[in-house]
Amino acid sequence: MYRNVYNGSLSIKDVNKEVELVGWVSKRRNLGQILFIDLRDRSGIVQVLVNEGIKCCEIRNEYVIQVKGVVKQRKEANNKLKTGEIEVIASEVNLINSAFNPPLIIDDKTDALEDTRLKYRYLDLRRPIMQHYLDIRHQIKMSVHEYLNKHHFIEIETPMLCASSPEGAKEYLVPSRIHHGNFYALPQSPQMFKQMLMIGGLERYYQIARCFRDEDLRADRQPDFTQIDIETSFLSQDELLELMEGLLYKIFKDTINVEIKLPLRQIKYETAIKDYGSDKPDTRFDMKLFDVNDLLNDVNIPFYNKEMSIRAIKVENIAHETTRKIIDALNLEAKKFSLDFVNVLKYEQNQLHGSLIKYLDENTIKQLINKSSLKENDILIISHGPYNRVCSLLGNLRNQYAKKLGLIKPNTYDLLWVVDFPMFELNVEDNKIVATHHPFTRPKDECLKTLKSDPLSALSYAYDIVINGYEAGGGTLRIYDQNIQKEIFEILGLSDEEIKNKFGYFIEALKYGTPPHGGIAFGLDRLAMILGGTDNIRDVIAFPKNLSAVDPVSMAPNKVDQSQLDELGIIIKDN
Ligand code: AMO
Repeated sequence: MYRNVYNGSLSIKDVNKEVELVGWVSKRRNLGQILFIDLRDRSGIVQVLVNEGIKCCEIRNEYVIQVKGVVKQRKEANNKLKTGEIEVIASEVNLINSAFNPPLIIDDKTDALEDTRLKYRYLDLRRPIMQHYLDIRHQIKMSVHEYLNKHHFIEIETPMLCASSPEGAKEYLVPSRIHHGNFYALPQSPQMFKQMLMIGGLERYYQIARCFRDEDLRADRQPDFTQIDIETSFLSQDELLELMEGLLYKIFKDTINVEIKLPLRQIKYETAIKDYGSDKPDTRFDMKLFDVNDLLNDVNIPFYNKEMSIRAIKVENIAHETTRKIIDALNLEAKKFSLDFVNVLKYEQNQLHGSLIKYLDENTIKQLINKSSLKENDILIISHGPYNRVCSLLGNLRNQYAKKLGLIKPNTYDLLWVVDFPMFELNVEDNKIVATHHPFTRPKDECLKTLKSDPLSALSYAYDIVINGYEAGGGTLRIYDQNIQKEIFEILGLSDEEIKNKFGYFIEALKYGTPPHGGIAFGLDRLAMILGGTDNIRDVIAFPKNLSAVDPVSMAPNKVDQSQLDELGIIIKDN
């Protein structure tokens, strides 16, 4: 027997208990006649005291040891440690395995760069904070199973090797050995399968589903990630959202003991963009965007085109710090959104200053001050250009300033639904119409008539759950009429041939008594990240990819043997 108790579970109640412990040496302090060891296992750390003369193996950091001893109360408690009231007086310390000197400090506070942490992930995972993140992730899954089972959902696995599906990102392809020249696609999500499960009469499905998307990585994205994937039949949007709110309530309560207030707020996509410049607004702070077109319409500003949007945000208490250099940086930020510049106005000593002022008369200046309730040391950032770009830029600056100025209270959770998304949007790169969510989304009933003639103004039964400015999940009611489904594919520019080749099987399935259905997928990684209190998705994934989509432990993707390529019928082109 290695152990009879877990280190982190020991407390004052265990005083005088004989214990056998195992774990890794987290720290050791040799005071000559006595040796202190901090012994770590998954449950926590306990201090072990080894007196001179006791049988004790060599002790170095990260050695795996077994300790036999007795629990005693400490003279002075260490309140930084959960087990800080007690220590274990060793009667025997045995070596189970030695360890090389680790290349990173194995503690919540480590000095290691993320590259090192990812390369030696198995050591990084020994850090208590990392185990906490994985615990949160596990707890979310347990809550999901419990809640959905209670609500008569059935968990079903769908294939990993599938046909390509139109979720928006590039796909990972897997060559077929048996059918040379043919490829499976790894699923971007189980979308079409879960819909076919509804056609199959399963009514309430869920799956903790692995998904794969070959897209540019960001702090909240991974190429392989996990969804809590859900589909239901015969529910209205409101009924479905209510059911999902119950799930979110349970997840928050079980994992971090926070009771979220239900029902959650719903805001329309259009309002989210107008007020916050984002379809995933962080509403833990205010700083709304507003129009200033009305005030500047009659003013002649040579670099403003009246046809364009002119919108602003007010940032409080920052005018004195807003130097030329910062304004240059704001202009650079504007360029990232394909806008030429921003105008910054500072309110100092009861006056508005800035390069725009020379074009404005007294009255306009007064109106501008009143409209934005400017106070001493506030600034206005004004952006001019196409509505969507202006909103995106200001929305982005809004988030940056909130972080910089500490406007977000820690440990607050702000959940809301963004609803009524447009069915389609224009892809700026090729000016083509694309589906905002995915092409199986049902257009709102009132938009069906004008779907073909005016697709860009059609709204859909689509909803995203936004938590603290992250899109934590999204879903839609689905089209269950094959003719509408075909029409959507046509609007997206797919030819009859393409529809038949890519989705023929699905159009066929829709013919056989498809129930009205709809669903949602929550990003498990994002939920774990938010509930764990980190802003790096890699922290909540045991073996994540780095920002170059490489797994730094195994170094995948790797080259493979020529014989494997031959078997698959693949010739690699030299670049
Ligand atoms: P969607 O594409 O919005 O919807 O994805 C659902 C949720 O999955 C998470 N997510 C990601 N998390 C980490 N890394 C990524 N690369 C990544 N991409 C998405 C997000 C997102 O909200 N089939 C539909 C759902 C449905 O309609 O039922 C779908 O996949 O949290």
